[in-house]
Amino acid sequence: MLTLAARMSRAKPSAIMIVADKAKQLKAAGRDIISFSIGVPNFLPGPHVYDAVRDALTKDSGQYGSNRGSDALLDAFLKHLEEGGLPGYKRANIASGIGAKHMLYNLAEALLDPGDTIVFAVPYWTTYVDIADILDAKARLLPCPASQNYKLTPAQLDAALPGAKVFLFNNPCNPTGMVYTKAEIAALADVLVKHPDTWVICDDIYNRMVFDGVGYHNFVQARPELRDRVIHVDSLSKTYGMPGWRVGFVAGPEAVAQAMVTMNSNHITNLPEVVTAAAVAALGGPQDIPRERCAEFQAKRDQVMAVVNSIPGVICPRPEGAFYVFPDISVAFGKSHNGRKIANDVDLCNALLDAKGVACVPGSAFGEPKALRISYTCPTAQLPEGLKRFREFFAELT
Ligand SMILES: Cc1ncc(COP(=O)(O)O)c(C=O)c1O
Repeated sequence: MLTLAARMSRAKPSAIMIVADKAKQLKAAGRDIISFSIGVPNFLPGPHVYDAVRDALTKDSGQYGSNRGSDALLDAFLKHLEEGGLPGYKRANIASGIGAKHMLYNLAEALLDPGDTIVFAVPYWTTYVDIADILDAKARLLPCPASQNYKLTPAQLDAALPGAKVFLFNNPCNPTGMVYTKAEIAALADVLVKHPDTWVICDDIYNRMVFDGVGYHNFVQARPELRDRVIHVDSLSKTYGMPGWRVGFVAGPEAVAQAMVTMNSNHITNLPEVVTAAAVAALGGPQDIPRERCAEFQAKRDQVMAVVNSIPGVICPRPEGAFYVFPDISVAFGKSHNGRKIANDVDLCNALLDAKGVACVPGSAFGEPKALRISYTCPTAQLPEGLKRFREFFAELT
């Protein structure tokens, strides 16, 4: 009998894409849909990126390239790291790949054997669980509910790390938008120092999207001795409005970067020259687009929070980064909308989409079934209308 590998029985399609696809189908059928579902930045990179691509097309060699990334790309990423507060890395410490997701998958392959433990906070980005499942690793989940601002405490981390091979940390966080302060990072870094047998993966891809002057901070700045086992994951997707260009990076110990190069040599071989040219231009060119978008997202965050906070019983820690708001909407459970019973987050998101044409992602996709995720990168003009419908929906619950 022909069978797929056992690991495929553990692989699931992304729960986020299921909602996005339903919203797309309704839109195609003529419904007026406002999507707060998929986490795309919804802006384009600057003209210098397209100029670089046009230029690269005329010179494209069509040849295989470096498994690590071209020297120009590596140097551009090193400069980006330094500007983000992470100096001191060399080409041998970094590697490129097809987006942060690819880097995270390859890191998990490189660091985890079947049965090994990977620790991360809940709510989590959906893919973390899926990658652990595919690789047959054990995910040790640390609940961080709204009542603790969706943030991991040093005590929780300390209790969870014994026996863990990898700790995966996401800051700013998808889905909560929470950002750890300098003091919070320092306190967690102090705990990490006490557990020398655990690798630390920092999924920092929203590091340029931080509001309110909180700043982006990381464990290596707090405790430089962690540099030997902290791995940073970054990507062009969110910062530069280039999710479909698929460029991601890691920075960390040489052995880990080399493992990524080895994986690339067996999977993707290299990033295409034209994509590389776009990435070098984005990283090395003017940084005003990411800065302006960040300011725009902060203003949109304020609009969303004003509405969410005005709904009785909805609880929402104030996000300070990325482009997500993650309200606890469990006050609605047990109620009805137009006679339709709302038992949980999935019922609520389905009813909201059907009745109001507003697409949000159920919190259970992120391990927190009391909440839902609002991604607020829709066109600015659509946001007030989407929020109005969101508020109406809750006002109509009986
Ligand atoms: C926390 C987090 N990590 C990684 C990714 C993957 O990003 P990329 O497009 O670079 O693969 C995403 C995308 O939504 C994300 O939210």
